[in-house]
Amino acid sequence: MSEWDELFRENILDHYRNPRNRGVLEHPDLTYEDANPLCGDRIRMDFKISDGRIEEVRFSGHGCSISQASASMLCEEIEGKPLDEVKKLSREDVLEMLGIELGPVRLKCALLALKTLKAGVYGLPQWPGEEDA
Ligand code: FES
Repeated sequence: MSEWDELFRENILDHYRNPRNRGVLEHPDLTYEDANPLCGDRIRMDFKISDGRIEEVRFSGHGCSISQASASMLCEEIEGKPLDEVKKLSREDVLEMLGIELGPVRLKCALLALKTLKAGVYGLPQWPGEEDA
């Protein structure tokens, strides 16, 4: 493993062990929960939205280190951002945040949070990147 991979792996573990934005919001404007059918792991996201901006976001649920780290990274990334900007986030952006090579099974783990976000906020239920499939 290269030093670079090592760094990304440590970052993933850090987000897994010390998740940012973990929890629930008391009166969310929007809540959505989704699961990875391969393992049953779930992520729920609560949003406070005002003036076309994600004011607050929290995630809860359970899953493997990749799914939880990617939820934590994604929440950190989108909090405070305009919805228009958030809408442009792609699977490539999430994979870039994680920064390690993933096989097809782990790919679903990595994209569960983005799927939850997109389905919750935009009603796009497909797995990101599989919209045309
Ligand atoms: Fe379930 Fe990764 S093993 S989301």
